[in-house]
This record gives sequence, structure tokens and C-alpha cells, in this order.
Amino acid sequence: MRPENMSNDIAEILMTEEQIKETVARLGKQISEDYAGKQLVLVSVLKGSVVFMADLMRAITIPCPIDFMVVSSYGSGTESSGVVKIIKDLDMDLRGVDLLIVEDILDTGRTLASLIEILKMRNPNSVKICTFLDKPDRRVSDITADYVGQKIPDAFAVGYGLDYDEIYRNLPYVGILKPSVYEK
Ligand code: IMP
Ligand code: MG
Repeated sequence: MRPENMSNDIAEILMTEEQIKETVARLGKQISEDYAGKQLVLVSVLKGSVVFMADLMRAITIPCPIDFMVVSSYGSGTESSGVVKIIKDLDMDLRGVDLLIVEDILDTGRTLASLIEILKMRNPNSVKICTFLDKPDRRVSDITADYVGQKIPDAFAVGYGLDYDEIYRNLPYVGILKPSVYEK
């Protein structure tokens, strides 16, 4: 059942709209500087990253084509397995491109680790990762993001694109979901 008031399901706010704005501005400025004169392309995996992608691209002041992928990661329950199947591939040719993967949240890192292997085979000039949220305590794969918005503790976050069962993506802030919501 859909909640009547999404905010009532939030235990704690992790990032306010104001903090999100400042974080995105900082990342956009840094990326614009680092990629000046390069062939930057932003790639994100649907759907969690769309909100961050939309904000980040407007905080970047150099040309940045964007592209999207849909992948499914086989896994049991809430844990991703890392075996990635491409459901919708990129439209763009990656040869010679400076690829920046835009992620909503880096958790175990399994999905990204196997996705990066696939993308590197397409001969981009460089591949880096920009993640809005990072849960380093949960990392299983040997993967670190080059740009991190905010490190967060090991709890289930929703909002700003992140969902639980497809709900809460449109909350304009990032919050921790009350365990009672998913323990029902
Ligand atoms: P992993 O890094 O392969 O474990 O999977 C990362 C993906 O799991 C993210 O892109 C999200 O879609 C999802 N995910 C991980 N942690 C959370 C969370 O706290 N809230 C919502 N989705 C999450
Ligand atoms: Mg995701």
C-alpha cells in the first residue's frame, strides 16, 4: 500500500535540500575543473541516479553529453550478486571518451565492479566514478569512488532518487527509512 505521507516513514534526515545543493555544486565545480579539455561523458544506471544526474549535469560548466543504461543484477533478496545483465545498453560509442559513471549510492559495489569491467572493454580513454552517497562499511568489491557527495552509515536511505519498492524517489531530501516500513 502506498503511504499517505511519505515523510512520516522517515526516521531521520541525512541530507537536507540545502545540503544536497551545496554538495552537488561542489562536485560539479570539481568535475568541471578536472575534465577541462577532455571528452567528458556522464553515464548513469537507471533509475536511482536520475535525480542526481539531472542536478549534477547543470552544476557542470563544460560540455557533458549524457547517456543511460538499464541493468539487472541477479541476486537473492536485497543483496546484489554482481552478475550484471544489460537490459538497455548505451546509445553512445565510448572509444576515446572520458567516462564518468554517475551513481546514486555505492553500497557493496558489486553492481558497479562488474559494470566497469564491461565498459572498460569498449576502450574509453578513462573511467571514473561519481557517487552521491557512499556506504563504505558495506563494501564487498574492491571499488572506490573518485567523487563522493557524502559518506553515510549503514542504514537504508531513501529520497533524492533512492527508493524502497519504487516509493520515496521524489522526496527532495535524503532520509533513513523507518525499519517498521520494511519489516511489515
Ligand atoms: P551494490 O553497490 O551492488 O550493492 O548496489 C548498489 C545499488 O543498490 C544502488 O545503486 C541502489 O539502487 C541500491 N541501494 C543500495 N543501498 C541502498 C539504500 O540505502 N537505499 C536505496 N537503494 C539502495
Ligand atoms: Mg542504482
